[in-house]
Amino acid sequence: MVRIGLLTSGGDCQALNATMRGIVKTLDHRSGEPVEIFGFEDGYQGLIYKRFRKMTPADFSGILTRGGTILGTSRTPFKRLDIPEADGVDKVAAMKGTYRELGLDCLFMLGGNGSTKTANRLAQEGLNVIALPKTIDNDTWGTDITFGFTSAVEIATKCIDDIHTTASSHGRVFVIEIMGHKVGWIPLYSAVAGGADVCLIPEIPYEMDNVIAAIDRRMQSGARFTIIVVAEGAISREEAALPKKEYKKLVAARTSPSIAYDIAREIEARCGRETRVAVPGHTQRGGQPDAQDRVFATQCGVEAALGCLEGEYGFMVAQCDGEMRRVPLAEVAGKLKRVDPASDLVREARALGISFGDEA
Ligand code: F6P
Repeated sequence: MVRIGLLTSGGDCQALNATMRGIVKTLDHRSGEPVEIFGFEDGYQGLIYKRFRKMTPADFSGILTRGGTILGTSRTPFKRLDIPEADGVDKVAAMKGTYRELGLDCLFMLGGNGSTKTANRLAQEGLNVIALPKTIDNDTWGTDITFGFTSAVEIATKCIDDIHTTASSHGRVFVIEIMGHKVGWIPLYSAVAGGADVCLIPEIPYEMDNVIAAIDRRMQSGARFTIIVVAEGAISREEAALPKKEYKKLVAARTSPSIAYDIAREIEARCGRETRVAVPGHTQRGGQPDAQDRVFATQCGVEAALGCLEGEYGFMVAQCDGEMRRVPLAEVAGKLKRVDPASDLVREARALGISFGDEA
């Protein structure tokens, strides 16, 4: 008998179910023993409060193409992991307790950065944990790609494509806000894929003067419209120079729904061009996984299950230079993978004429 726990943690994404299917199918085919599955509900909450479903391999059939997560998810309260819950529950002790009580051989955790930190803590506490790199943001350290990323890029790109036609008809400037509070992977990829003119990401602080100049240059070249992709967490040079606390205060004091509206208002005021905003928001995390995500998610699930069957734990499944790897949790936990402003893709985007708002 192989007894495993499964949980999905943090913001959801399109290929969570495909990943779990990969784990369970592999265990079912390769272990030679019955597989007992405990599906924890709503991420670590299920492990803490013993909210789980006893599941069978049949429950993971037919979910390859289904977005979201059949287990439900919640954000990880890692920063507060050592502080008991309001009801006095010690989270680490409770999670260990559930794991031991159910006699699990391994816990598979599908999650992003914060969740991986928690997984590492549980591994340090002696639990057999395997993490799988989930997030549309692609910001997990130690892997070139995360599952969810390509599906989100596809949706963001479709949004930019659709905006092109209406922007062109009306001769407008459009500011399209793409997900990414701390990193700009989705905005960068979708800006290149969707043929945007300006791309503002957290890793490259911008100056509004440069954005206005880029719009003017484009209009002077005869174009009727301009497409600006802005990451949720894009930051101006002025804001980037502020102490962190002051910047946080500034963001908290914003009265507009989001950064895209502030930027649009300033563009309209400064260059008098009709400017509109589009925010695809959580559609970027919704719907079915694309083909690439289905393949990568399945690979992650298979590799994680094979690791478990070989008795190897305490790692995160990763893909580096096209090869599947098992990277020690301690090496990756809590580290953020940001866009390198000197990377090939940024350099090539600049060569195409995409402005990052940082030009002299
Ligand atoms: O972590 C993924 C992500 O989609 C970010 O890109 C986005 O900023 C955030 O989650 C939104 O979080 P929530 O769903 O909690 O509003």
